[in-house]
Amino acid sequence: MTTGDYKIIITDDGSSSLYSGEYGETMHTTDGAFSEAVLKHVGPSRVIERMEEESSVLDVGMGLGYNALALMQRFCEQRSGASLTVVSLEKDFSFLPLMDTIAFHDPALQSLYGVVKKAAAEGRASLGRMTLQVIRGDARDSVQSLSGSLFDAIFQDPYSPSKNPELWSVDYFRALYSLCRDRCVLTTYSSAPHVRRGMMEAGFIVGRGPGMGMKREGTLASRGGDIVPLSSEDAGLILANPKSVPYRDRDLRSRREDILEQRTREIREMKAKTGRQVR
Ligand SMILES: C[S@@+](CC[C@H](N)C(=O)[O-])C[C@H]1O[C@@H](n2cnc3c(N)ncnc32)[C@H](O)[C@@H]1O
Repeated sequence: MTTGDYKIIITDDGSSSLYSGEYGETMHTTDGAFSEAVLKHVGPSRVIERMEEESSVLDVGMGLGYNALALMQRFCEQRSGASLTVVSLEKDFSFLPLMDTIAFHDPALQSLYGVVKKAAAEGRASLGRMTLQVIRGDARDSVQSLSGSLFDAIFQDPYSPSKNPELWSVDYFRALYSLCRDRCVLTTYSSAPHVRRGMMEAGFIVGRGPGMGMKREGTLASRGGDIVPLSSEDAGLILANPKSVPYRDRDLRSRREDILEQRTREIREMKAKTGRQVR
């Protein structure tokens, strides 16, 4: 089934994902869309295990809402007296009608997905001690509007860096850093050196995140170091590698092409300075 720019595909764990014509990518790994939410975001963030009385999670790139759904499922299972707020950021809701075609085998999960769909359509939905708030618009604006809020975990889940560079720049990571509680853990599927370098320049302590199937490892980042950091040798290799030059977007307003071009320029200048070949 297709809607506008999107086409539904079924991934290896039976859950659906969307292929975006604009980005030329699927929203999730074809190894298993819902499994990815559990294995790359909810699990490694350990936000459920670290749950305090009131916990909040920032979910960047809500998409079909699987990361939020997987988190809510885990929260329901642990039956604590705590409360959970999820703030999801998304700029495109043209795929909203396709969310109605998504079916899970587990009736409890399907019913919980009703809460996610309600929040996507209406901006907010609650169930018991859980609230899901959806902020529409460019996530770069939304993170600035959230200034003063503090989160216990961030699910960083835009499209890939080269397709969606505005949500992978050092300046954007700085804005995320300012929204982190000390023990906040940021999770992402990307292990690209320029992504890790961008996070390091923004102040994050950076470590390895789990991979999934045949895919490379992801990345975990934290403000206060509640993760296993990269070895100093690995961190040194990133800093010495001209290919790790991060994206820059000083006023958080640059166009995608300009962000890509600026990085290419910076790499070229660095090569010229050091005389190094960058393959
Ligand atoms: C890989 S998909 C996210 C999948 C999602 N996390 C899930 O659990 O189903 C990336 C999402 O980021 C959104 N996105 C891309 N750039 C954005 C931006 N600048 N601001 C807000 N959302 C953006 C896309 O519209 C897309 O829905």
